[in-house]
Amino acid sequence: MKPTEIKKGIYWVGAIDAELRNFHGYLTQRGSTYNAYLIVDEKITLIDTVKRSCFDEMITRIKEIVDPAKIDYIVSNHVEMDHSGCLPKMCQLAPGAIVITSPNGEKGLRQHYNQNWNFKVVNSGDTVNIGQRNLSFVLTPMVHWPDSMVTYIPEEKLLLSNDAFGQHIASKERFDDQYDLEIIKSEAAKYYANIVLLFGAQVKKALDALSSLEIDIIAPSHGLIWRKHINNIIGLYKKWSNNETEEKAVIIYDTMWHSTEKIANFIKNAFQSKSIDAKVFSLQSTHISDIMAHLLSAKYICVGSPTLNNGLLPTVAAFTTYMQGLTPKNRNALSFGSYGWGGQSIKQIDQILSNCGFKTAEAIKIQYVPDENKLKEVCDDRIKNIISL
Ligand code: FEO
Repeated sequence: MKPTEIKKGIYWVGAIDAELRNFHGYLTQRGSTYNAYLIVDEKITLIDTVKRSCFDEMITRIKEIVDPAKIDYIVSNHVEMDHSGCLPKMCQLAPGAIVITSPNGEKGLRQHYNQNWNFKVVNSGDTVNIGQRNLSFVLTPMVHWPDSMVTYIPEEKLLLSNDAFGQHIASKERFDDQYDLEIIKSEAAKYYANIVLLFGAQVKKALDALSSLEIDIIAPSHGLIWRKHINNIIGLYKKWSNNETEEKAVIIYDTMWHSTEKIANFIKNAFQSKSIDAKVFSLQSTHISDIMAHLLSAKYICVGSPTLNNGLLPTVAAFTTYMQGLTPKNRNALSFGSYGWGGQSIKQIDQILSNCGFKTAEAIKIQYVPDENKLKEVCDDRIKNIISL
């Protein structure tokens, strides 16, 4: 449980949560880290804390460097409890510490912990001198909570970005050049798709606010620290926040007796015959948070369900509710399904896709078991349709 020095006198003192598999409904197959940072200067400063259950790990690392009682400032960039969970204990151990946070941060921390800590409320552009360094703050509201902010240290060209640019990866490595870049990028995409996607407009504002900063290191509050591929991740955030997509299709379905599954596979073949990359995801075997990661950059979204009790299969209803909340934009969509007599599910999916603001192609609705020759024809036709929208 050694700390890691990320810049001279600045240490990662976070915690590795390798067993984490569920982060409020998000499947975290690789676990996560909660990254807290300790700055040893004339004023000793802790940037964020960790989840309450990980206190021992964080405090062991801090004690390797300083007596926690000597901490002067604790910056709370974000109220969510994976980062503020140890504030109560830290404020007990460092009773003289001043808690620096945004206006909404103060409100949120009071509502979470009901403590009258010694708060210093900061706004964008405010700075706090800690000796050789200055802490400069940029509020980033709704990226992804109202209280969110980032801390920048100009003397170090170090951006402590909290959730932004994070990834749920538990690893002993701390930096992006020590770990498989493709995995980091795919986990950053999954993180964005499931946590940040809804807030694209606010991300764009935050990127604008950060664009004038010289940055050597982006130290997020989850996963690997960016020092080699900074332009790469900033470029991805620009693309994702603009809802830029690629010529790719995701086909999401559940099935009762394999008929809707058959339609899904024929849709995939129809896309592929047009040289469009297409992936099929069964909701029986793929978690909705993994599907969102694929959907992040896909232009075409096809959703299928048979009709059960005049509606959708519950798995499809859960997925569409989740997707609708995350508000992907600029997509072309298609609903499909097999049915016995009512066929309401297909109409309901079509309505949901329209409510998402997607352009929709004519649905594929097939009674009972599809005839393969006819199915191929219908799918070829609808794929021509969806591409031309
Ligand atoms: Fe990592 Fe929004 O908490």
